[in-house]
Amino acid sequence: MTLRTRFVLVILGLMLLAQAMFGSAYYFLQKKAELAENYNRSMRSLRFAAAVCHEASLTGDWNPAKSHASLLREDLRIRYADCFDGNGAPLTGEAPGPAPDAPAPAGVWEISRSFGLNGGEAGRVRIGFDAAAVDAEIDANLARAVWDMARVASFTLLFGFLAAVMVARTLTRPIEAIAAAAKKVEEGDLGHRIPDGGGAEEVEALRRRFNAMTERLAETDRMKQSFVQSFTHDLKNPLSGIKACIASMHAGSFGEINDKQRRYLESSLEAAERLWDYIDDILSVMKLQTGGFPTRVEALDGREIARESAESFALKAKQCLVDLTRDMPDELPQVRADAQLLRRVFDNLISNALNFTPRGGKIVVRAEREREFVRFEIRDTGPGIPAKDLERVFESFHQVEKNKSKARRSGTGLGLAICRSIVRELGGRIWAQAPRAGGTRLFFTLPAA
Ligand SMILES: Nc1ncnc2c1ncn2[C@@H]1O[C@H](COP(=O)(O)OP(=O)(O)O)[C@@H](O)[C@H]1O
Ligand SMILES: [Mg+2]
Repeated sequence: MTLRTRFVLVILGLMLLAQAMFGSAYYFLQKKAELAENYNRSMRSLRFAAAVCHEASLTGDWNPAKSHASLLREDLRIRYADCFDGNGAPLTGEAPGPAPDAPAPAGVWEISRSFGLNGGEAGRVRIGFDAAAVDAEIDANLARAVWDMARVASFTLLFGFLAAVMVARTLTRPIEAIAAAAKKVEEGDLGHRIPDGGGAEEVEALRRRFNAMTERLAETDRMKQSFVQSFTHDLKNPLSGIKACIASMHAGSFGEINDKQRRYLESSLEAAERLWDYIDDILSVMKLQTGGFPTRVEALDGREIARESAESFALKAKQCLVDLTRDMPDELPQVRADAQLLRRVFDNLISNALNFTPRGGKIVVRAEREREFVRFEIRDTGPGIPAKDLERVFESFHQVEKNKSKARRSGTGLGLAICRSIVRELGGRIWAQAPRAGGTRLFFTLPAA
Protein backbone atom coordinates (compact mmCIF):
# COMPACT_ATOMS: atom_id res chain seq x y z
CA MET A 1 0.00 0.00 0.00
CA THR A 2 1.42 3.38 -0.90
CA LEU A 3 2.20 6.00 1.71
CA ARG A 4 -0.42 8.23 0.13
CA THR A 5 -3.23 5.64 0.40
CA ARG A 6 -2.23 4.82 3.94
CA PHE A 7 -2.27 8.49 4.93
CA VAL A 8 -5.72 9.05 3.39
CA LEU A 9 -7.09 5.91 5.09
CA VAL A 10 -5.74 6.96 8.50
CA ILE A 11 -7.24 10.46 8.17
CA LEU A 12 -10.60 8.99 7.07
CA GLY A 13 -10.50 6.50 9.95
CA LEU A 14 -9.84 9.28 12.46
CA MET A 15 -12.66 11.36 11.00
CA LEU A 16 -15.08 8.43 11.22
CA LEU A 17 -14.08 7.80 14.83
CA ALA A 18 -14.56 11.47 15.72
CA GLN A 19 -17.93 11.53 13.98
CA ALA A 20 -19.07 8.38 15.77
CA MET A 21 -18.14 9.91 19.13
CA PHE A 22 -19.71 13.31 18.47
CA GLY A 23 -22.69 11.65 16.83
CA SER A 24 -23.56 9.48 19.81
CA ALA A 25 -23.06 12.38 22.27
CA TYR A 26 -25.33 14.52 20.08
CA TYR A 27 -27.95 11.73 19.95
CA PHE A 28 -28.14 11.36 23.72
CA LEU A 29 -28.34 15.11 24.32
CA GLN A 30 -31.02 15.45 21.65
CA LYS A 31 -33.04 12.63 23.21
CA LYS A 32 -32.83 14.27 26.61
CA ALA A 33 -33.98 17.60 25.15
CA GLU A 34 -36.90 15.93 23.33
CA LEU A 35 -38.09 14.21 26.53
CA ALA A 36 -37.85 17.46 28.51
CA GLU A 37 -39.67 19.37 25.78
CA ASN A 38 -42.46 16.78 25.69
CA TYR A 39 -42.85 16.87 29.47
CA ASN A 40 -42.98 20.68 29.56
CA ARG A 41 -45.51 20.84 26.76
CA SER A 42 -47.82 18.32 28.48
CA MET A 43 -47.54 20.15 31.80
CA ARG A 44 -48.44 23.42 30.07
CA SER A 45 -51.58 21.78 28.64
CA LEU A 46 -52.50 20.47 32.07
CA ARG A 47 -52.00 23.86 33.76
CA PHE A 48 -54.05 25.58 31.09
CA ALA A 49 -56.88 23.01 31.39
CA ALA A 50 -56.89 23.48 35.20
CA ALA A 51 -57.08 27.25 34.74
CA VAL A 52 -59.99 26.90 32.28
CA CYS A 53 -61.90 24.64 34.72
CA HIS A 54 -61.22 26.99 37.60
CA GLU A 55 -62.55 29.89 35.50
CA ALA A 56 -65.69 27.84 34.63
CA SER A 57 -66.33 27.08 38.30
CA LEU A 58 -66.15 30.80 39.08
CA THR A 59 -68.53 31.86 36.26
CA GLY A 60 -70.73 28.73 36.44
CA ASP A 61 -70.55 28.47 32.65
CA TRP A 62 -68.96 25.11 31.86
CA ASN A 63 -69.30 25.34 28.10
CA PRO A 64 -65.81 26.81 27.37
CA ALA A 65 -64.29 24.13 29.61
CA LYS A 66 -66.19 21.40 27.77
CA SER A 67 -65.07 22.69 24.35
CA HIS A 68 -61.48 22.94 25.63
CA ALA A 69 -61.67 19.31 26.84
CA SER A 70 -63.05 18.07 23.49
CA LEU A 71 -60.36 20.10 21.69
CA LEU A 72 -57.74 18.34 23.80
CA ARG A 73 -59.30 14.91 23.02
CA GLU A 74 -58.85 15.59 19.32
CA ASP A 75 -55.09 15.38 19.81
CA LEU A 76 -54.25 11.82 18.70
CA ARG A 77 -51.78 11.40 21.53
CA ILE A 78 -54.41 12.13 24.18
CA ARG A 79 -56.66 9.24 25.28
CA TYR A 80 -58.69 11.24 27.76
CA ALA A 81 -58.89 14.73 29.25
CA ASP A 82 -61.39 15.14 32.12
CA CYS A 83 -62.31 17.49 34.88
CA PHE A 84 -64.02 16.08 38.06
CA ASP A 85 -65.54 17.68 41.07
CA GLY A 86 -64.63 16.66 44.64
CA ASN A 87 -67.11 13.73 44.52
CA GLY A 88 -65.72 12.32 41.32
CA ALA A 89 -68.56 13.59 39.08
CA PRO A 90 -67.34 14.53 35.58
CA LEU A 91 -67.72 18.23 34.74
CA THR A 92 -66.50 18.29 31.14
CA GLY A 93 -68.91 16.20 29.17
CA GLU A 94 -69.44 12.72 27.98
CA ALA A 95 -67.10 9.71 27.40
CA PRO A 96 -64.74 10.43 30.25
CA GLY A 97 -61.68 8.34 30.96
CA PRO A 98 -61.39 6.02 33.99
CA ALA A 99 -63.06 6.94 37.27
CA PRO A 100 -61.09 9.52 39.28
CA ASP A 101 -60.02 7.03 41.96
CA ALA A 102 -59.12 4.31 39.39
CA PRO A 103 -55.45 4.02 38.36
CA ALA A 104 -54.36 4.95 34.81
CA PRO A 105 -54.92 2.04 32.38
CA ALA A 106 -51.95 0.18 30.93
CA GLY A 107 -50.10 2.00 28.13
CA VAL A 108 -51.26 5.41 29.35
CA TRP A 109 -49.06 8.09 30.79
CA GLU A 110 -51.22 10.22 33.03
CA ILE A 111 -50.77 13.67 34.56
CA SER A 112 -53.24 15.35 36.88
CA ARG A 113 -53.62 18.56 38.85
CA SER A 114 -56.16 19.85 41.38
CA PHE A 115 -57.78 23.24 41.27
CA GLY A 116 -60.16 25.20 43.52
CA LEU A 117 -63.91 24.92 42.81
CA ASN A 118 -66.30 27.68 43.61
CA GLY A 119 -67.61 26.69 47.04
CA GLY A 120 -64.28 25.71 48.59
CA GLU A 121 -63.98 22.07 47.60
CA ALA A 122 -61.21 20.89 45.19
CA GLY A 123 -61.70 19.62 41.64
CA ARG A 124 -59.24 17.66 39.58
CA VAL A 125 -58.03 17.69 35.97
CA ARG A 126 -56.63 14.44 34.47
CA ILE A 127 -55.00 14.04 31.09
CA GLY A 128 -54.03 10.57 29.86
CA PHE A 129 -51.48 10.33 27.04
CA ASP A 130 -51.05 7.30 24.81
CA ALA A 131 -47.46 6.30 25.82
CA ALA A 132 -46.77 4.59 22.46
CA ALA A 133 -47.87 7.67 20.47
CA VAL A 134 -45.74 9.94 22.63
CA ASP A 135 -42.73 7.65 22.14
CA ALA A 136 -43.36 7.49 18.37
CA GLU A 137 -43.41 11.30 18.17
CA ILE A 138 -40.16 11.58 20.10
CA ASP A 139 -38.59 8.89 17.91
CA ALA A 140 -39.70 10.65 14.73
CA ASN A 141 -38.13 13.92 15.91
CA LEU A 142 -34.94 12.08 16.83
CA ALA A 143 -34.82 10.33 13.44
CA ARG A 144 -35.08 13.71 11.73
CA ALA A 145 -32.21 15.02 13.80
CA VAL A 146 -30.10 11.92 13.06
CA TRP A 147 -30.77 12.24 9.33
CA ASP A 148 -29.70 15.91 9.38
CA MET A 149 -26.59 14.92 11.28
CA ALA A 150 -25.79 12.13 8.78
CA ARG A 151 -26.05 14.58 5.89
CA VAL A 152 -23.67 17.02 7.56
CA ALA A 153 -21.35 14.08 8.41
CA SER A 154 -21.21 12.82 4.85
CA PHE A 155 -20.37 16.29 3.53
CA THR A 156 -17.65 16.61 6.16
CA LEU A 157 -16.32 13.18 5.18
CA LEU A 158 -16.26 14.10 1.50
CA PHE A 159 -14.42 17.35 2.12
CA GLY A 160 -12.16 15.60 4.61
CA PHE A 161 -11.33 12.98 1.99
CA LEU A 162 -10.46 15.60 -0.63
CA ALA A 163 -8.38 17.56 1.88
CA ALA A 164 -6.59 14.36 2.97
CA VAL A 165 -5.77 13.47 -0.65
CA MET A 166 -4.38 16.93 -1.23
CA VAL A 167 -2.32 16.95 1.94
CA ALA A 168 -1.07 13.43 1.21
CA ARG A 169 0.01 14.52 -2.25
CA THR A 170 1.91 17.51 -0.92
CA LEU A 171 3.58 15.33 1.69
CA THR A 172 4.53 12.44 -0.57
CA ARG A 173 5.60 14.43 -3.62
CA PRO A 174 9.12 15.18 -2.30
CA ILE A 175 9.53 11.52 -1.31
CA GLU A 176 8.47 10.45 -4.80
CA ALA A 177 10.95 12.92 -6.29
CA ILE A 178 13.72 11.37 -4.19
CA ALA A 179 12.65 7.83 -5.19
CA ALA A 180 12.63 8.83 -8.88
CA ALA A 181 16.08 10.35 -8.49
CA ALA A 182 17.37 7.20 -6.76
CA LYS A 183 16.05 5.16 -9.71
CA LYS A 184 17.89 7.40 -12.14
CA VAL A 185 21.11 6.99 -10.17
CA GLU A 186 20.52 3.22 -10.04
CA GLU A 187 20.22 3.25 -13.83
CA GLY A 188 23.61 4.89 -13.99
CA ASP A 189 22.77 8.58 -14.36
CA LEU A 190 25.18 9.84 -11.73
CA GLY A 191 24.78 13.43 -12.90
CA HIS A 192 21.17 13.56 -11.74
CA ARG A 193 20.39 15.97 -8.88
CA ILE A 194 17.10 16.63 -7.08
CA PRO A 195 16.10 20.26 -7.64
CA ASP A 196 15.24 22.45 -4.63
CA GLY A 197 11.55 21.82 -3.94
CA GLY A 198 11.18 24.17 -0.97
CA GLY A 199 9.74 21.27 1.05
CA ALA A 200 9.74 20.58 4.78
CA GLU A 201 13.01 20.89 6.70
CA GLU A 202 13.55 17.13 7.03
CA VAL A 203 12.89 16.53 3.33
CA GLU A 204 15.26 19.37 2.43
CA ALA A 205 17.97 17.79 4.60
CA LEU A 206 17.38 14.44 2.89
CA ARG A 207 17.53 16.09 -0.53
CA ARG A 208 20.85 17.79 0.28
CA ARG A 209 22.31 14.54 1.63
CA PHE A 210 21.13 12.64 -1.44
CA ASN A 211 22.69 15.18 -3.80
CA ALA A 212 25.94 15.20 -1.83
CA MET A 213 26.00 11.39 -1.91
CA THR A 214 25.44 11.29 -5.68
CA GLU A 215 28.15 13.93 -6.13
CA ARG A 216 30.57 11.69 -4.20
CA LEU A 217 29.54 8.67 -6.27
CA ALA A 218 30.05 10.58 -9.50
CA GLU A 219 33.45 11.76 -8.28
CA THR A 220 34.53 8.18 -7.44
CA ASP A 221 33.20 7.01 -10.77
CA ARG A 222 35.17 9.67 -12.63
CA MET A 223 38.33 8.70 -10.77
CA LYS A 224 37.77 5.02 -11.51
CA GLN A 225 37.12 5.73 -15.16
CA SER A 226 40.12 7.92 -15.70
CA PHE A 227 42.28 5.35 -13.90
CA VAL A 228 41.01 2.40 -15.94
CA GLN A 229 41.14 4.41 -19.13
CA SER A 230 44.76 5.45 -18.76
CA PHE A 231 45.69 2.03 -17.40
CA THR A 232 44.12 0.09 -20.28
CA HIS A 233 45.45 2.58 -22.77
CA ASP A 234 48.95 2.09 -21.44
CA LEU A 235 48.50 -1.68 -21.68
CA LYS A 236 47.65 -1.51 -25.36
CA ASN A 237 51.03 -0.19 -26.53
CA PRO A 238 53.23 -2.98 -25.12
CA LEU A 239 50.56 -5.53 -26.07
CA SER A 240 50.58 -4.51 -29.71
CA GLY A 241 54.39 -4.92 -29.62
CA ILE A 242 54.05 -8.41 -28.20
CA LYS A 243 51.43 -9.32 -30.81
CA ALA A 244 53.61 -8.08 -33.66
CA CYS A 245 56.59 -10.00 -32.29
CA ILE A 246 54.69 -13.27 -31.98
CA ALA A 247 53.16 -12.81 -35.43
CA SER A 248 56.63 -12.28 -36.95
CA MET A 249 58.03 -15.33 -35.18
CA HIS A 250 55.02 -17.35 -36.34
CA ALA A 251 55.61 -16.16 -39.91
CA GLY A 252 59.20 -17.44 -39.66
CA SER A 253 60.79 -14.00 -39.89
CA PHE A 254 63.34 -14.95 -37.21
CA GLY A 255 64.17 -18.36 -38.61
CA GLU A 256 62.52 -21.72 -39.12
CA ILE A 257 60.11 -22.93 -36.36
CA ASN A 258 58.98 -26.46 -35.72
CA ASP A 259 55.35 -27.63 -35.30
CA LYS A 260 55.39 -27.56 -31.53
CA GLN A 261 56.72 -23.99 -31.54
CA ARG A 262 54.04 -23.04 -34.08
CA ARG A 263 51.28 -24.42 -31.88
CA TYR A 264 52.60 -22.56 -28.84
CA LEU A 265 52.95 -19.34 -30.83
CA GLU A 266 49.40 -19.73 -32.14
CA SER A 267 47.91 -20.14 -28.71
CA SER A 268 50.03 -17.21 -27.42
CA LEU A 269 48.75 -15.06 -30.26
CA GLU A 270 45.18 -16.09 -29.51
CA ALA A 271 45.62 -15.21 -25.86
CA ALA A 272 47.12 -11.84 -26.82
CA GLU A 273 44.16 -11.22 -29.18
CA ARG A 274 41.73 -12.02 -26.42
CA LEU A 275 43.49 -9.66 -24.04
CA TRP A 276 43.42 -7.01 -26.77
CA ASP A 277 39.65 -7.47 -27.25
CA TYR A 278 39.13 -7.29 -23.53
CA ILE A 279 41.02 -4.02 -23.25
CA ASP A 280 39.18 -2.72 -26.29
CA ASP A 281 35.81 -3.57 -24.79
CA ILE A 282 36.63 -1.91 -21.49
CA LEU A 283 37.80 1.22 -23.27
CA SER A 284 34.62 1.27 -25.36
CA VAL A 285 32.39 0.97 -22.31
CA MET A 286 34.26 3.80 -20.62
CA LYS A 287 34.06 5.99 -23.70
CA LEU A 288 30.37 5.27 -24.22
CA GLN A 289 29.64 6.09 -20.59
CA THR A 290 31.51 9.39 -20.70
CA GLY A 291 30.21 10.31 -24.12
CA GLY A 292 33.74 10.04 -25.46
CA PHE A 293 32.64 8.39 -28.71
CA PRO A 294 32.29 10.97 -31.44
CA THR A 295 29.10 10.02 -33.27
CA ARG A 296 28.20 10.96 -36.80
CA VAL A 297 24.53 10.21 -37.10
CA GLU A 298 23.25 10.11 -40.67
CA ALA A 299 20.66 8.29 -42.75
CA LEU A 300 22.09 4.97 -43.84
CA ASP A 301 21.02 1.59 -45.13
CA GLY A 302 21.00 -0.83 -42.22
CA ARG A 303 20.94 -3.82 -44.62
CA GLU A 304 24.30 -2.73 -46.05
CA ILE A 305 25.98 -2.65 -42.62
CA ALA A 306 24.38 -6.00 -41.70
CA ARG A 307 25.74 -7.46 -44.93
CA GLU A 308 29.29 -6.19 -44.31
CA SER A 309 29.23 -7.51 -40.78
CA ALA A 310 27.81 -10.91 -41.75
CA GLU A 311 30.35 -11.26 -44.55
CA SER A 312 33.21 -10.60 -42.16
CA PHE A 313 32.01 -13.64 -40.17
CA ALA A 314 31.34 -15.83 -43.24
CA LEU A 315 34.64 -17.68 -43.15
CA LYS A 316 34.42 -18.31 -39.43
CA ALA A 317 30.84 -19.57 -39.82
CA LYS A 318 31.94 -21.95 -42.55
CA GLN A 319 34.75 -23.29 -40.36
CA CYS A 320 32.28 -23.84 -37.52
CA LEU A 321 29.75 -25.48 -39.88
CA VAL A 322 27.11 -22.91 -39.00
CA ASP A 323 24.71 -21.62 -41.63
CA LEU A 324 24.80 -17.79 -41.49
CA THR A 325 22.18 -16.13 -43.71
CA ARG A 326 20.38 -12.83 -44.13
CA ASP A 327 16.69 -12.29 -44.68
CA MET A 328 16.08 -8.64 -45.61
CA PRO A 329 13.06 -7.08 -47.34
CA ASP A 330 13.63 -5.24 -50.61
CA GLU A 331 11.82 -2.22 -49.28
CA LEU A 332 13.21 -0.94 -46.03
CA PRO A 333 13.56 2.64 -44.80
CA GLN A 334 17.00 3.93 -44.01
CA VAL A 335 17.92 4.34 -40.35
CA ARG A 336 19.42 7.25 -38.47
CA ALA A 337 22.67 5.92 -37.04
CA ASP A 338 26.43 6.17 -36.90
CA ALA A 339 27.88 3.65 -39.37
CA GLN A 340 30.81 2.62 -37.17
CA LEU A 341 28.72 2.17 -34.06
CA LEU A 342 26.01 0.25 -35.90
CA ARG A 343 28.65 -2.06 -37.38
CA ARG A 344 29.89 -2.66 -33.87
CA VAL A 345 26.41 -3.70 -32.73
CA PHE A 346 26.04 -6.18 -35.61
CA ASP A 347 29.58 -7.50 -35.04
CA ASN A 348 28.88 -8.07 -31.35
CA LEU A 349 25.54 -9.77 -31.89
CA ILE A 350 26.65 -11.99 -34.79
CA SER A 351 29.86 -12.95 -32.99
CA ASN A 352 27.79 -13.91 -29.92
CA ALA A 353 25.45 -16.04 -32.05
CA LEU A 354 28.40 -17.69 -33.74
CA ASN A 355 30.16 -18.19 -30.45
CA PHE A 356 27.27 -20.14 -28.91
CA THR A 357 25.64 -21.92 -31.89
CA PRO A 358 26.84 -25.53 -32.20
CA ARG A 359 27.89 -27.23 -35.46
CA GLY A 360 25.04 -27.67 -37.90
CA GLY A 361 23.18 -24.74 -36.37
CA LYS A 362 21.65 -21.72 -38.08
CA ILE A 363 21.98 -17.96 -37.69
CA VAL A 364 19.60 -15.57 -39.47
CA VAL A 365 19.98 -11.79 -39.58
CA ARG A 366 16.66 -10.11 -40.31
CA ALA A 367 15.24 -6.61 -40.64
CA GLU A 368 11.69 -5.33 -40.65
CA ARG A 369 9.89 -2.03 -40.51
CA GLU A 370 8.10 -1.33 -37.20
CA ARG A 371 6.11 1.92 -37.35
CA GLU A 372 8.67 4.76 -37.27
CA PHE A 373 11.49 2.34 -36.44
CA VAL A 374 13.40 -0.40 -38.20
CA ARG A 375 13.71 -3.59 -36.17
CA PHE A 376 16.73 -5.83 -36.65
CA GLU A 377 16.91 -9.37 -35.36
CA ILE A 378 19.76 -11.86 -34.96
CA ARG A 379 18.31 -15.31 -34.40
CA ASP A 380 20.27 -18.47 -33.67
CA THR A 381 19.75 -22.10 -32.76
CA GLY A 382 22.18 -22.06 -29.85
CA PRO A 383 21.55 -22.94 -26.18
CA GLY A 384 19.35 -19.88 -25.57
CA ILE A 385 19.29 -17.50 -22.63
CA PRO A 386 17.32 -18.50 -19.47
CA ALA A 387 14.38 -16.20 -18.62
CA LYS A 388 16.04 -14.87 -15.49
CA ASP A 389 19.06 -13.67 -17.49
CA LEU A 390 17.18 -12.08 -20.40
CA GLU A 391 17.52 -8.59 -18.92
CA ARG A 392 20.75 -9.07 -17.06
CA VAL A 393 22.88 -10.12 -20.05
CA PHE A 394 22.90 -6.42 -20.98
CA GLU A 395 24.70 -5.52 -17.75
CA SER A 396 28.47 -5.23 -17.83
CA PHE A 397 30.28 -8.52 -17.08
CA HIS A 398 27.10 -10.56 -16.74
CA GLN A 399 27.44 -13.97 -18.38
CA VAL A 400 25.04 -16.90 -18.37
CA GLU A 401 26.55 -19.54 -16.11
CA LYS A 402 25.24 -22.59 -17.99
CA ASN A 403 26.37 -21.20 -21.36
CA LYS A 404 30.01 -20.75 -20.33
CA SER A 405 30.95 -24.31 -21.20
CA LYS A 406 29.19 -24.01 -24.59
CA ALA A 407 31.10 -20.92 -25.80
CA ARG A 408 33.72 -21.46 -28.51
CA ARG A 409 35.68 -18.65 -27.01
CA SER A 410 35.42 -17.13 -23.54
CA GLY A 411 34.31 -13.50 -23.62
CA THR A 412 34.40 -10.48 -21.35
CA GLY A 413 30.70 -10.08 -20.73
CA LEU A 414 30.87 -6.53 -22.08
CA GLY A 415 29.61 -6.98 -25.64
CA LEU A 416 25.87 -6.65 -24.96
CA ALA A 417 26.44 -3.78 -22.50
CA ILE A 418 28.25 -1.95 -25.31
CA CYS A 419 25.41 -2.75 -27.74
CA ARG A 420 22.83 -1.42 -25.29
CA SER A 421 24.76 1.83 -24.76
CA ILE A 422 25.08 2.34 -28.51
CA VAL A 423 21.47 1.50 -29.34
CA ARG A 424 20.17 3.76 -26.58
CA GLU A 425 22.49 6.52 -27.70
CA LEU A 426 21.01 6.24 -31.19
CA GLY A 427 17.45 6.41 -29.84
CA GLY A 428 16.51 2.73 -30.11
CA ARG A 429 15.82 -0.22 -27.84
CA ILE A 430 17.47 -3.62 -27.49
CA TRP A 431 16.11 -6.81 -25.91
CA ALA A 432 16.51 -10.57 -25.94
CA GLN A 433 13.93 -13.33 -26.23
CA ALA A 434 14.10 -17.03 -25.54
CA PRO A 435 11.69 -18.74 -27.95
CA ARG A 436 9.99 -21.92 -26.76
CA ALA A 437 11.48 -23.80 -29.67
CA GLY A 438 15.01 -23.02 -28.37
CA GLY A 439 17.81 -20.72 -29.46
CA THR A 440 18.10 -16.98 -28.94
CA ARG A 441 16.44 -14.00 -30.61
CA LEU A 442 18.14 -10.66 -30.16
CA PHE A 443 16.25 -7.60 -31.33
CA PHE A 444 17.16 -3.96 -31.59
CA THR A 445 15.39 -0.99 -33.13
CA LEU A 446 16.69 2.21 -34.68
CA PRO A 447 14.67 5.27 -35.70
CA ALA A 448 13.82 5.27 -39.39
CA ALA A 449 15.32 8.19 -41.29
N1 LIG B 1 23.32 -15.75 -28.87
C1 LIG B 1 23.48 -16.12 -27.61
N2 LIG B 1 23.17 -17.38 -27.20
C2 LIG B 1 23.33 -17.73 -25.93
N3 LIG B 1 23.81 -16.92 -24.97
C3 LIG B 1 24.12 -15.68 -25.30
C4 LIG B 1 23.98 -15.20 -26.63
N4 LIG B 1 24.36 -13.89 -26.66
C5 LIG B 1 24.75 -13.60 -25.41
N5 LIG B 1 24.61 -14.65 -24.59
C6 LIG B 1 24.89 -14.70 -23.15
O1 LIG B 1 25.03 -13.36 -22.71
C7 LIG B 1 26.30 -13.17 -22.11
C8 LIG B 1 26.76 -11.76 -22.35
O2 LIG B 1 27.07 -11.54 -23.69
P1 LIG B 1 28.15 -10.48 -24.04
O3 LIG B 1 27.82 -9.24 -23.27
O4 LIG B 1 28.31 -10.37 -25.49
O5 LIG B 1 29.45 -11.06 -23.35
P2 LIG B 1 30.44 -12.17 -23.87
O6 LIG B 1 30.02 -12.57 -25.24
O7 LIG B 1 31.75 -11.47 -23.86
O8 LIG B 1 30.35 -13.25 -22.86
C9 LIG B 1 27.15 -14.21 -22.75
O9 LIG B 1 28.23 -14.53 -21.91
C10 LIG B 1 26.19 -15.37 -22.88
O10 LIG B 1 26.12 -16.05 -21.67
MG1 LIG C 1 29.87 -11.08 -26.78
